Amino acid sequence: MQEVQVSSRFALTQGDPRAHLDDFATAVAEGLSRPQKSLPCRFLYDEVGSELFEEICDLPEYYLTRTEHALLERRADEIAALLPNPVALAELGSGSSSKTRLLIDALLRRQSALRYVPVDISRTALEDAARSLLSDYDALQVHAIADEYTAGLHHVHAETERPLVIAWLGSNVGNFERSAAAGFLAGVWGQLEARDRLLIGIDLRKDADALEQAYDDAAGVTARFNLNLLGRINRELGGHFDLDRFAHRAVYRVEEGRVELGIHSLEDQEVEIAALDSVAKFEKDEMIHTEDSYKYSLEEIDTLAAASGFEVERRWLDPAGAYSLNLLA
Ligand code: AVJ
Repeated sequence: MQEVQVSSRFALTQGDPRAHLDDFATAVAEGLSRPQKSLPCRFLYDEVGSELFEEICDLPEYYLTRTEHALLERRADEIAALLPNPVALAELGSGSSSKTRLLIDALLRRQSALRYVPVDISRTALEDAARSLLSDYDALQVHAIADEYTAGLHHVHAETERPLVIAWLGSNVGNFERSAAAGFLAGVWGQLEARDRLLIGIDLRKDADALEQAYDDAAGVTARFNLNLLGRINRELGGHFDLDRFAHRAVYRVEEGRVELGIHSLEDQEVEIAALDSVAKFEKDEMIHTEDSYKYSLEEIDTLAAASGFEVERRWLDPAGAYSLNLLA
């Protein structure tokens, strides 16, 4: 871990990127040697992947970002009014922080200064976001944390004064299996004090067509995002994947309430991965599972909150009922 004071209003804590590299090699070796191949979705977000994800957020089919943005635009003052004054703001998976600006605006209408502690796996995303925020907001102080959620949360608690609101937007909770989501939130709950709050954006269950289009867009951006995982193995681990011999797949499983993303092998093939000193074998039509995106009913959100110690203090939906913002206490 390394801490850099970039300027008087900007500090950055970097988790250990070396640990991360070993972590990727281990995960690829393990994930590709299973009978049912899979790769953990957190590895989708290298620099290339983080940029592609920003592109996904602007796609016509990907209603999540737009809908959450509109909800925040409409409700930010109402949300702020339910928070202690003054409050510090932390954010998990902050990315470009573009939606967070709406919260920052609302908080700075009530308090004269704000400490913002964004946590993201992508250091460049954090640096770009911080630079742009600091030039737009004189009253802002940023301490960015480049790390994964769990390690990042520990730094949040070290770096943030109380009371605190943690924002977890973008339905990022959807990447967790339901019981793991409750487990993770229970950990967050355990570190919060009575006046602290968690603001969590959660995508809702809806019809399969809309969901499958959101995760398999006409322009093929989500396909590039998903296949970048193979590109990353090529770049970082000396892999020899030919991305044209694989295809992106997205399927919504109604009962499980999740979109499953995978990479489909278009032919029988063997792929060398130099850094692992191994060859991965694929049969035609074999899948590598890469990501799950869980969708929630309102009842399932209440259950999730209760299972982790929280209660839903307020909830806001967009007019079409596609997406929810939840203030957990
Ligand atoms: C960042 C996990 C919220 O599940 O909607 C988008 C990731 N993957 N398109 C989602 C994603 C493909 C996204 N989350």
